Amino acid sequence: MRTEICDRFGIEHPIIGFTPSEHVAAAISKAGGLGVLGCVRYNDAAELDRALDWMDENTDGRPYGVDIVMPATVPTEGTPVDLDTLIPAGHRDFVERTLTELGVPPLPADEKGRDGVLGWLHSVARSHVDVALTHRIALIANALGSPPPDVIDRAHRAGVPVAALAGTAAHAVRHVDAGVDLVVAQGYEAGGHTGEIASMVLLPEVVDAVGDRAPVLAAGGIGTGRQIAAALALGAAGVWMGSTWLTTSEYTLDMPESATQRALLAAGSSDTVRSRIYTGKPARLLKTRWTEAWNSADAPKPLPMPLQNLLVSPAHNRITRSDDPEVVAMPVGQIVGRMNEVRPVADVFDTLLTELTATLDRLDNLRKN
Ligand SMILES: Cc1cc2nc3c(=O)[nH]c(=O)nc-3n(C[C@H](O)[C@H](O)[C@H](O)COP(=O)(O)O)c2cc1C
Repeated sequence: MRTEICDRFGIEHPIIGFTPSEHVAAAISKAGGLGVLGCVRYNDAAELDRALDWMDENTDGRPYGVDIVMPATVPTEGTPVDLDTLIPAGHRDFVERTLTELGVPPLPADEKGRDGVLGWLHSVARSHVDVALTHRIALIANALGSPPPDVIDRAHRAGVPVAALAGTAAHAVRHVDAGVDLVVAQGYEAGGHTGEIASMVLLPEVVDAVGDRAPVLAAGGIGTGRQIAAALALGAAGVWMGSTWLTTSEYTLDMPESATQRALLAAGSSDTVRSRIYTGKPARLLKTRWTEAWNSADAPKPLPMPLQNLLVSPAHNRITRSDDPEVVAMPVGQIVGRMNEVRPVADVFDTLLTELTATLDRLDNLRKN
């Protein structure tokens, strides 16, 4: 199966995989797709630099991309104060009370959890771009809006195409008007930040709105070869998958058999919720007792980005340490219902491609009847 995306990137299959893990991203590229490393979790650009050094050495010369997060607006961008001081005490009290009610113990005194995410501040995201452009990246993608014009210009001057995620046809047109080369139409089903229109409706709307100005990748709810065939039928030039890789054996950001992994494997397609509690913007998460607690009558309104994640990050560290599958905090899409075993990325590719071929054959036979 070749589409214009394969030719554009020199890849075998029109499957682009977003992942926060460099190990998964490398495995996707080696399997013949395009692995795209999410940069948002790297508060320290030097750490991203090391991860991309590793990618350069472990992708057998295959292309790979990076994903940055530059929202159109970040209310606290440039605020000259310690961001922690902007978090109301009432919010902190609610988090502490909820963790106690859920039976989540404090971290051991000698253990420091991961810091809150700052990668959605433009200052930090720009440091990601600076670092990424010193590596042999084949794509820069941006979530939550068109990248600023100077970022698009810098990428283009370096010969790197730019993609942007879109949840409506209007977003997609805005991206292309801004000079974006590739649109990722991401439906409501998707894990992480997501809009309100389901993929089945969104994708043809975006394809028609963009016309031949840019190829469109389908994202949201894709985890089988039949869904890839459907995306191609709806006009996509390829697919952009995120959730599926969370249960691959190369994904080691959560340990094997961790509560997160067990919860993902057990979840059905109705076990997710779209909520602002992870980042301050609507994102699809695994529905657990933690996400449900934020629906209680005494729960405060989530804070704007980036404060909400700074608020909940220490709680997420405690939740991860407590290893209770009922209290997991994890972005994932509705396709989680099909993520039922841990498999290597290469096996996932084999299954996707076998089913894609069988589906196209079945449709072809229908036409002949
Ligand atoms: C754990 C997780 C983290 C994500 N983080 C980002 C991100 O930092 N940047 C981004 O552009 N998209 C992010 N996404 C969205 C993916 O890029 C992708 O659009 C989405 O997962 C596609 O839908 P699917 O989950 O149904 O495959 C994330 C998704 C997941 C599951």
